[in-house]
Amino acid sequence: MRGRPYNTMSNGEQQYSLKLDFLGDLKRSHHCGALRANDEGSRALLMGWVHRRRDLGGLIFLHLRDIHGITQVVFRAEMDSDIHARAEHIRGEFVVAVEGHVEKRSAETINANLPTGEIELVADKVWILNESRPAPFPMEDDLSITEEVRLKHRYIDLRRHRMQENIRMRSAVSFAVRQSLYDQGFHEIETPFMTRSTPEGARDFIIPSRLSLGNFYALPQSPQIFKQLLMVGGYERYFQIVRCFRDEDLRADRQPEFTQIDLEMSFVQQNDVFGVIEAMLEKAFAAAGATVKAPFPRITYKQAMDSYGIDKPDTRIPPFHRVEALFEGTPISGNGLPMVAIVVPKVGQISRKERDELKAYGQEKSLRVFDDPKRLERDFPEQMAKVREITGAGEDDLLLLANWAAEPDEHLPEREALKACGQLRLFAAQKYADRHKLLDPKQFNFLWVVDFPMFEWDPEDNRWVAAHHPFTSVHDQDLDLLTTDPANCRAKSYDIVLNGVELGSGSIRIHRADVQQKVFGALGFTPEDAQHRFGFLLEGLSYGAPPHGGIALGLDRMVMILAGETSIRDVIAFPKTAKGTDLMCEAPSDVPEKLLRDLGLTFLRR
Ligand code: AMO
Repeated sequence: MRGRPYNTMSNGEQQYSLKLDFLGDLKRSHHCGALRANDEGSRALLMGWVHRRRDLGGLIFLHLRDIHGITQVVFRAEMDSDIHARAEHIRGEFVVAVEGHVEKRSAETINANLPTGEIELVADKVWILNESRPAPFPMEDDLSITEEVRLKHRYIDLRRHRMQENIRMRSAVSFAVRQSLYDQGFHEIETPFMTRSTPEGARDFIIPSRLSLGNFYALPQSPQIFKQLLMVGGYERYFQIVRCFRDEDLRADRQPEFTQIDLEMSFVQQNDVFGVIEAMLEKAFAAAGATVKAPFPRITYKQAMDSYGIDKPDTRIPPFHRVEALFEGTPISGNGLPMVAIVVPKVGQISRKERDELKAYGQEKSLRVFDDPKRLERDFPEQMAKVREITGAGEDDLLLLANWAAEPDEHLPEREALKACGQLRLFAAQKYADRHKLLDPKQFNFLWVVDFPMFEWDPEDNRWVAAHHPFTSVHDQDLDLLTTDPANCRAKSYDIVLNGVELGSGSIRIHRADVQQKVFGALGFTPEDAQHRFGFLLEGLSYGAPPHGGIALGLDRMVMILAGETSIRDVIAFPKTAKGTDLMCEAPSDVPEKLLRDLGLTFLRR
């Protein structure tokens, strides 16, 4: 039955071309995770991949795998020597169909790790549907191979149980999101991928046009402007689970193409958007087997900065407390900037070396760290008694004080100092998280952060830029601050945060063309600039745009957290590397010269 060898592997093993069987009209009776002890005696026909193979001479055992599970199959030479001989050719990752009857395993051979572990299928027919080269890595979950190898052979990696769980969870979550939004009266509407630039703060990916030489489409960073124009078009409740494209530096939670759950609603205020999202998240999380309870807590951006030093607080860790007032006039008080007390509960004693690490980290962030509460208690007994009272820090908790040790920045110095304190808080908490399960990945702490500032200072460009995007509306009371005091002008924008990750962002939009013009002006756009980039939006707004608002959530980030992963690459079927490349199909790649010529493109240098 063995043909001639078609390949000699580096280990000398020879691969043979086999006469393969046709699928014909074979049908599966069960999937590989289905059979149980009470199926004893029934006949079954399974199809799948050979996960593992053990050849004991007269007995050949296969673990047959499909997306639903694994079933043990046994070929007994004494029962049917032809079938057994055919099974001898089967190797790992071959695709086979097997028919036989279900037998209960003896007590000592039961595999408690498999749901099907009480039975095995005793084969009397086998079809080899396809062979496979030896897989570049085993199908186990705890792999020590590099991500590069996994991404190069992603189709193999996708066969692993953990990846299949992640990708299936993603599908279940998307389905639940759709169901919830349809139930809440939303319409799913597609918006173009070949479009003009949308300002979401990243670089655009651009596509040269052949028919309009010298001009480019941009891939959308988000459907922001189109969804607003859908509101002008009267579609009141729009959503889309949509791919967005951003050419930015990549991190574990960023990909150049990623997926948003994007929605927009007319005649609404912030609370209406929150209600829709909370109902949707309850459903989506339930689809992944997690329970979350709405309504989610809310804090303002200012409260977030004052208590956590970050606009996406991880509320599984306690906030810090500002204590500068307590230490005013003492030698350790700062230069009028915040001083904070940071507590990480139940850390116990930490070593001198660990204290030095905390100090060194603080120094990197321009912070002076007071890491010895005993000494502080000796020098400042009254103040420290108060610190313990405010923070509730016990003897078993790590207690640090920190303040700003550098020249304050000209713009927003307090914010800078608080940010540094927030980074120290996270560093300390993450460092000791394992010791006391502080950061439980199965605990889902949602938080709405509201009332973001309208503008952020961009030190590189030396100007104010939109903190969210330029279509965000200003608080009604802060309209005059647009020009007089941009630093204190609040926006009607909000983020939804989950365990310290920004899951989504949105805002109530500007729906009046005159106000939109004014905001463009405050952001430093000349009227001509504004007209050139956003003329079609301004025009749209001038034709009876309803008050509207919306939000977009990162689907990849949401599934990453639900799946307990630390990189969104593990919940995307075909992701890019941190360098933005697809190792499997080797994109980006060069293109034929002719194509470039047709597009009127030449490169100065490659
Ligand atoms: P924003 O730019 O904040 O808002 O994006 C919304 C959410 O999308 C996710 N996200 C990403 N996920 C993976 N990789 C990336 N490169 C990436 N960039 C963003 C995040 C983020 O919170 N149009 C507005 C929304 C609105 O105002 O309605 C927008 O796109 O989870």
